[in-house]
Amino acid sequence: MAILKIARMGHPVLAEKARDVPDPTAPEIRRLIADMVETMIDANGAGLAAPQVHVPLRLVVFQAPAERSEEGLSEEERFDHTAPLTVLMNPKIEVLSKDVEGGWEGCLSVPGLRGFVERPAHIRYSGTDHEGKRIVRTAKGFHARVVQHELDHLDGVLYPTRMRDLGKLIFESEVRHWAKGGG
Ligand code: NI
Repeated sequence: MAILKIARMGHPVLAEKARDVPDPTAPEIRRLIADMVETMIDANGAGLAAPQVHVPLRLVVFQAPAERSEEGLSEEERFDHTAPLTVLMNPKIEVLSKDVEGGWEGCLSVPGLRGFVERPAHIRYSGTDHEGKRIVRTAKGFHARVVQHELDHLDGVLYPTRMRDLGKLIFESEVRHWAKGGG
């Protein structure tokens, strides 16, 4: 395994539309997944998309542990709001409600910054996992946010372009000045 170099905002690979993974269980894809997971954990990220490591394929890894949710979760909420370490290839996404939720996002390709982004609050996503099995899940809260953020990378979209108010693009070190929910 290896820690991979992460592309930073401005690198053309982050602006391309990625291609489908032709064979999700191929040995080179297994190696890429192992390296991406190691890279994400090393960088303390919640998610990583293949284009961020200079590979323009539709593959993301992410996790949504309960600690990442701002409010305490009930047992029932835990189901939609959290996800274990997940590998998702050739994903599809569907918005399930008109509700939109704002939250602070960061990105390993945009180091040192945080931005307040509004996104659909309730989604369903599907795709293929690392064993070639189909995943279908519904997601809310941080889970819904991380999936949408990572899937955006596959279409060449970085979170600042989703922001409505660039006054809420701030340095990580200044997050303490902002109330929960973005003020
Ligand atoms: Ni990102």
